[in-house]
Amino acid sequence: MPATVIVGAQWGDEGKGKIVDLLAQHSDVVCRYQGGPNAGHTIVVGEETYKIRALPSGIVCGKPCVIGNGCVVDPEVLIGELDEFERRGYSTAEVYISGNAHLIMPWHVAIDGASERRLGKLAIGTTRRGIGPCYADKAMRLGIRVQDILDPKILRQKIEVALAEKNLWLERVYETEPFDLETVASQYESYAQRLRPYVADTSLYVDNALADGRVVLFEGAQATLLDLDHGTYPFVTSSNPVAANAATGVGVGANRIDRVIGVAKAYVTRVGEGPFPTEIPEPEQSMVRELGHEYGTVTGRERRCGWLDVVALRYAVRVNGIDQLALTKLDVLSAFAELPVCVRYRLRDGSETADFPAHQSDFHAARPVYETLPGWQEPLDACGAMHDLPDAARRYVEFVERALGVEVTLVGTGADRDRILSPQSLEAVARP
Ligand code: GDP
Ligand code: IMO
Ligand code: MG
Repeated sequence: MPATVIVGAQWGDEGKGKIVDLLAQHSDVVCRYQGGPNAGHTIVVGEETYKIRALPSGIVCGKPCVIGNGCVVDPEVLIGELDEFERRGYSTAEVYISGNAHLIMPWHVAIDGASERRLGKLAIGTTRRGIGPCYADKAMRLGIRVQDILDPKILRQKIEVALAEKNLWLERVYETEPFDLETVASQYESYAQRLRPYVADTSLYVDNALADGRVVLFEGAQATLLDLDHGTYPFVTSSNPVAANAATGVGVGANRIDRVIGVAKAYVTRVGEGPFPTEIPEPEQSMVRELGHEYGTVTGRERRCGWLDVVALRYAVRVNGIDQLALTKLDVLSAFAELPVCVRYRLRDGSETADFPAHQSDFHAARPVYETLPGWQEPLDACGAMHDLPDAARRYVEFVERALGVEVTLVGTGADRDRILSPQSLEAVARP
């Protein structure tokens, strides 16, 4: 079983980076299949902390890393990360970037910001990294791709064509400053010189790795409820984090994916706007935020915090085909005597459902129906194995397993790499 997708089962920041880092140690290749520098993963290894936005999390343990065709690449951010890893003594020789991935251009960032400002109260709360406008241009067939950096003449020409249109939008629609062709062209030519060696046929590379029986991880960024098709539209990102897109986003056959590991927090967080049924009232919400250090890796924004929502999690199991779950940040719940878990939604007509509503207005109006589980109120620091967990903590995990019909194979008890419990060895989870 060499090909595994790691997918966020909530609204992002579930601790995917940490889980990928752990499993990557027993894997051969790690691939990102969608998203861009809107992602922010924090990985803690002893005294060292890594904050990654563009590179796959497998870079931390020195594995070959693929940025798939489904990703959008901000060259400045990516070069910053490559430089930083090199400064920290890493080789980046085995970073492979798909020529079909799209480049985030300065106008994408400008339009993302201008569009959010214009929406005012209706803003999505994006990370303002140009993600939506870049994917929009990809769909419009106006995008500039990574392979365009291979030829300076083509690169300049594409920038010229795109700018002719984008400057009109920027000036006339968004009433903001246009970009100067010469400035953008020379900036991107210098990025191109740094990035050219990394451009590769990543579909072929990953297909060959799979054919050789190598263990490949497909790392999702963002998460199920931020999925453009299956998330809480319009409060979503502009790509498809769901597991099936791992195949499209890297360029391998759908039948090459062997299994899907979902990652969920033991509670829920959400950054940005949009409905959130289990959002915790104050002052308890701030308590969870402080205990969990729930501030965005990319924007530093406060993450909104909610109790665990198994209605939404069951939906994530369904739309991704999750076959096992990593439940992170269980330690953060240690402070609470009682732990509400949302098991159903109450809809506007008073009926209750255990199924995630298919329509936006039902979801907006949904109220959580909680079952309250007892807390354990002791730290989990000393737990070295699943059987060390306090009874109430173990029952919390078992409750999730029963509610989802999915085994929890990893339990996070702290940010550090070592703070993970599993009924099996990590190697057995990574290479079943
Ligand atoms: P990602 O975007 O899904 O990779 O998640 P982020 O890295 O944005 O956010 C997760 C945060 O929780 C990071 O700061 C991690 O270091 C931290 N973290 C991960 N797992 C655990 C855990 O089990 N317990 C605690 N306390 N922190 C964790
Ligand atoms: P990781 O990979 C949490 C949210 C933004 C906003 C919406 C759209 O770290 O889990 P975008 O900039 O993508 O157009 O913003 O999606 N968002 C995330 N929230 N974690 C992320 O990534 C996110 N990436 C985007 O806050 O609500
Ligand atoms: Mg994150």
